[in-house]
Amino acid sequence: MTIYPLGLRLAGKRVLVVGGGAVGTRRVKGLIASDADVVVISPVASAEIADLALAGLLTWHRREFAAGDTAGAWLVHTATGVAAVDAAVTAECDAARILCVNAAEAEASSAWVPAVTRHDGLTVASFGGGDPRRSMALRDAIAALLESGDLSAAPSRQVVLAATPASQIIGAPQAPGTVALVGGGPGHIGLISARGLALLKAADVVVADRLGPTNLLDDLAPDALIINVGKLPDHHPVPQDEINRILVEQAQAGKRVVRLKGGDPYVLGRGGEELDFCVEHGVEVEVLPGITSAISVPAAAGIPVTHRGVATGFTVITGHEGVASVGGSRDHTVVILMGVSKLAESAAALASGERGLDCPVAIIEDGYGPNQRVSFGTLGSIASVAKEREVKSPAVIVVGDVVLRSHLAVGHFAAEIGFSNPLGN
Ligand SMILES: C[S@@+](CC[C@H](N)C(=O)[O-])C[C@H]1O[C@@H](n2cnc3c(N)ncnc32)[C@H](O)[C@@H]1O
Repeated sequence: MTIYPLGLRLAGKRVLVVGGGAVGTRRVKGLIASDADVVVISPVASAEIADLALAGLLTWHRREFAAGDTAGAWLVHTATGVAAVDAAVTAECDAARILCVNAAEAEASSAWVPAVTRHDGLTVASFGGGDPRRSMALRDAIAALLESGDLSAAPSRQVVLAATPASQIIGAPQAPGTVALVGGGPGHIGLISARGLALLKAADVVVADRLGPTNLLDDLAPDALIINVGKLPDHHPVPQDEINRILVEQAQAGKRVVRLKGGDPYVLGRGGEELDFCVEHGVEVEVLPGITSAISVPAAAGIPVTHRGVATGFTVITGHEGVASVGGSRDHTVVILMGVSKLAESAAALASGERGLDCPVAIIEDGYGPNQRVSFGTLGSIASVAKEREVKSPAVIVVGDVVLRSHLAVGHFAAEIGFSNPLGN
């Protein structure tokens, strides 16, 4: 006989359990978890059932089953251990058209209980054709696959969006046919905004950079299209024009497009160009700010870009072509992005102004990443320090007295290279 599987929604509905032994106790716990109105009839019962009764989570009648006890129940489980009693309960249910699970006699039952596993909001129920060991073996195999990720049960993007609390979306869901330029922060997955993460999870298409929280891409819905346009230094696999074209093309195909960018889209990130191109082609764009590496990566090394009494402002520049002079002295911090290859020229230009050759400098490579490393020097020494330590991109270069705020600088390198710490610590 082929069974007809159902998911019962039992909240507030009377379910009778006859028998308070091990099987009855397991059933009772599952039923209480489903918010059923549970009644147990049994002269003796497990300590767990007694405790649940005391806690008011079920009603326990300490007596034998009697004719008429099934009245008012939507569902009955009988597991008394006495075949004749289970048969009497089953017969009464059948007469009253109440579904009945007879633990002793699968073939006599009008309903069977599956082996169940739950995973990430899913319920998987398996039936073993009346053989509980078979249904449990199948259940365990599926549970192991779900747990290991070999069986993907990622929720659909719509479900993710619907299930994400409004407090985490912080605004309306993204409309189809639009582009969101999402600032992903410096790379650590904890440093993207809550809205950015919600938009990313709900995106149909993600156009991603090399920097930023790229680990998040592994967890997107299996049907999300990921287009990697990541640029390597001195190597531009996907030109900016092509990136712009992809954004517009995907949006015009009705997709929710997320352009996931490292740091903040508007800080040396060409976000403005992407916005302009989309708008010129009639595509609506949301620009979502991100945590820029210019401020956060120095902070990862303990360096604040301003500090009362040390620096009152800062300038962020690209060092790609080499830095021209930046006004101000050591109390005006200079933060250089993309500055590793032209470091010697940039340091010389900055030293020629008020800062001088002994102005402190720090280079932070791979901020928040597994290879984060900080190198210290002065405008006079930093190029040879970087060469010796084989400093690589991505890196943020910080110039000014704020560098001395880093406990690393104060504790180690500063003493070696003879910094006089203006803070006296
Ligand atoms: C094209 S710019 C993009 C900057 C980005 N829009 C932002 O706000 O951070 C890339 C440069 O940012 C810096 N950068 C970004 N993430 C970094 C990280 N995790 N560690 C060190 N430098 C980083 C490096 O200077 C890199 O060359």
